[in-house]
Amino acid sequence: MTFPDGTIAYDADGVVLAGDMTEDQVKACLAAGAKSWLYLNEECNKACPKAAVEAASVPFEMVPLMTPASLTNECVDKLVAYVDSAPKPAVIQCSTATRASIPYILHKAKTDKLPAASAMALAASMTPPLKFLEKPPLASAVKRALTHANRKPVIFRQLFDTSGSSTYTYLIADGPGGEAVLIDPVLEMVDRDLKLIDELGVKLKYAVNTHCHADHVTGSGAIKAARPEVRSIIAAASGAQADIKIGHGDRIEFGSMFLEVRATPGHTDGCLSYVCDDMVFTGDAVLIRGCGRTDFQQGSADRLYESVHTQIFSLPNDTIIYPAHDYKGHRCSTVGEEKALNPRLGSGKTKDEFVEIMANLNLPYPKKIDEALPKNMVCGIQEGMPTPA
Ligand SMILES: [Fe+2]
Repeated sequence: MTFPDGTIAYDADGVVLAGDMTEDQVKACLAAGAKSWLYLNEECNKACPKAAVEAASVPFEMVPLMTPASLTNECVDKLVAYVDSAPKPAVIQCSTATRASIPYILHKAKTDKLPAASAMALAASMTPPLKFLEKPPLASAVKRALTHANRKPVIFRQLFDTSGSSTYTYLIADGPGGEAVLIDPVLEMVDRDLKLIDELGVKLKYAVNTHCHADHVTGSGAIKAARPEVRSIIAAASGAQADIKIGHGDRIEFGSMFLEVRATPGHTDGCLSYVCDDMVFTGDAVLIRGCGRTDFQQGSADRLYESVHTQIFSLPNDTIIYPAHDYKGHRCSTVGEEKALNPRLGSGKTKDEFVEIMANLNLPYPKKIDEALPKNMVCGIQEGMPTPA
């Protein structure tokens, strides 16, 4: 099926994006097999093809999407529902095929369950890239529309381990009273975390680890002992025990939110990063201006470089990076910042240069590894196990 020049067909999804067309082009589009037609301008527009489309008995729908401000939640819902149910191939038309790409990405994000950062990255990686990205005000409006917090308040807390490991623990909850996840809890800080969870009135559903840590004992076991309804999660590839073992492409759902799971091995085999809205929790794969070491626990600099470049640096530059640790007082970074400034993984470093850097770090043997690893392989402290001094 060939659609006329000037249209952009995304065959896999049966979507054809178009700008203004001559009468002949409209006819050619219908002759090519268009089964539905969504028009994003107003009917008074001289190029409105309503008459010709309806004459061909093809359903014609108009949703004026004239400015970024038109992209209200109601409008988003209408567009998503339309593209979901529209007979395919579905033509989506505006004036320059720019706004026409918006219903398409909104629909993809919904059906493929993509967080905002992943959906925006997908839009940029399509052939050709979706044109709304060329207009910053439109791109911002689309990103906002794809972000959960645009619909419902999100509770987000970055917590720091003051007991010595400089670990960040992240609490994310689907609004007050909603379900929550805790990423990378630390044993010594469990009381603080549970107190905060109670104060905020959220329901902890999962204790999630980015990987099997070597520098601290996970709080997962102690949390489960205190709150038996909580389930622990870790990568199947870590070989560690947990209630739920996950891998690349999975979703961790809590309330109406979710974390998209991306495998980012290299620091360990079972390292996962989690994308939520426009944030990515990178564990030890990417640290601010650094990365996790690769000289123990199945570490591989080669794999880490690949993981970071394909799974983290492929996200939009404004995606916020929340690492598992920081030792210099930083809290977060962005993908763009680390691509430009990370002295190991970014700033134009090749894989060979990275491997060379990692091979020559000459780091001391981790202080807590002999205590932490055996405990973390069984989801932290279990009943009957001695607690650490
Ligand atoms: Fe680690």
